[in-house]
Amino acid sequence: MDFDVTQDWHVASPYDFLRRLRHERPVFRSEHLGAYVLTRYADVRAAYGDARRFSSKGSLTISRSLTEETRARLGEHGSFLSSFVANVDPPDHTRLRRSVSRAFTPRAVAALERRFRELNEDVLDRVAGRGRADFVEEIAHEPSVKLTAAFIGVPAADEEFVQRRVKEWFQLFLSPQPPGRQLELADGFLTYLDYVDRLVVARAKDPQDDFTSLMTSLIGEELSHREVVELISTILLGGNDTVPNQLGNSVLRLLREGQWPVPPERVANAVEECMRIDGAALGSFRFATTDVELHGVTIPAGELVLLSTDSAAHDETVFPDPERFVIDRPNADAHMVFGYGIHFCVGAALGRLQLRTALDVLGARLPGLRLAEGASVAYRRSIVGRGLPSLMVEW
Ligand code: HEM
Repeated sequence: MDFDVTQDWHVASPYDFLRRLRHERPVFRSEHLGAYVLTRYADVRAAYGDARRFSSKGSLTISRSLTEETRARLGEHGSFLSSFVANVDPPDHTRLRRSVSRAFTPRAVAALERRFRELNEDVLDRVAGRGRADFVEEIAHEPSVKLTAAFIGVPAADEEFVQRRVKEWFQLFLSPQPPGRQLELADGFLTYLDYVDRLVVARAKDPQDDFTSLMTSLIGEELSHREVVELISTILLGGNDTVPNQLGNSVLRLLREGQWPVPPERVANAVEECMRIDGAALGSFRFATTDVELHGVTIPAGELVLLSTDSAAHDETVFPDPERFVIDRPNADAHMVFGYGIHFCVGAALGRLQLRTALDVLGARLPGLRLAEGASVAYRRSIVGRGLPSLMVEW
């Protein structure tokens, strides 16, 4: 048996398989992924903590399937993401991370809560009277997309354009696509880069109170123009997709477990337990920089390694009875769905704030929320992310 993204079980419920790997083959060579997979909590954590032997350099550009024609079309942008913070090692990482962190201070993040609450109320004002909606499409995305856009400094009129384009470049660079589709996506991507470029130029001339202005002000001192464009493009994705995916997974779980609405005092821990049991991120890729000996297996230098946070979050040595949802599990927040170590998600506090606020508002406004009769539930097929394209609900 192997990981197989074309199969539904791979994303929906790989836990029997992962448990067997943890017990029998803790260093598993996946032919399908072309990578070694670490599945035990302690090993995943140790590898995240050892950036010297487990390098992030180039680890994000996992789709190496771009055709010659697509590469030619992309030109100098073919190596996009090569200077993105999650895709580099120290000392570049240390410098980039310092710059990005300036925008994610606890104060800056806390200041976004009220706006996010309003954005959720706005959506519910629109749909509440209908009694039925696609939770993912019509409720979960809009508040995060709008909040991220405001944080970055994208004008409201451009939000739709940005959202469409972000999805496209994600497909182009992070999941294999047929050649014709690659070219289409490449054109969209170039249009998008051009847009971000113009935003940076506009903020250089006329700074505002937003992420783009702050990063632009560091060009020449701490950051290059290209690094700023990659940061902005990618953080737009971080905010647009991961949080709504996690929210969709969480609402599905809570409804199935009969835990709706979540009492306000239990929301914070419920968010952690939902992340643990149905994480929106499944793991991170690294490259071994030297031969690594582990549990009797040698991972040769240069090989790709998947740190399976999904498996770690279901490791029974850390989380007793891991397939059971325990809303007040004392160590639920020990999951590594936000990563661990020097690349630990810089948006984690913002992600948590959004998840908590959304569950709070939704619980208060739609206490009778339930899955729609006969609604089918199918996850998107992906190696690194878990999310539902659609979730029909009623109230
Ligand atoms: C529930 C939502 C989210 C999940 C599950 C998530 C997950 C992750 C993970 C697993 C990593 C580590 C990657 C690695 O080690 O290779 C990461 C890093 C990162 N995340 Fe998030 N993230 C979320 C939300 C966000 C948000 C809202 C933002 C920004 C607005 C963001 C921005 C970033 C950035 C910039 C990094 C790179 C940090 C570095 O390399 O130092 N994330 N995220």
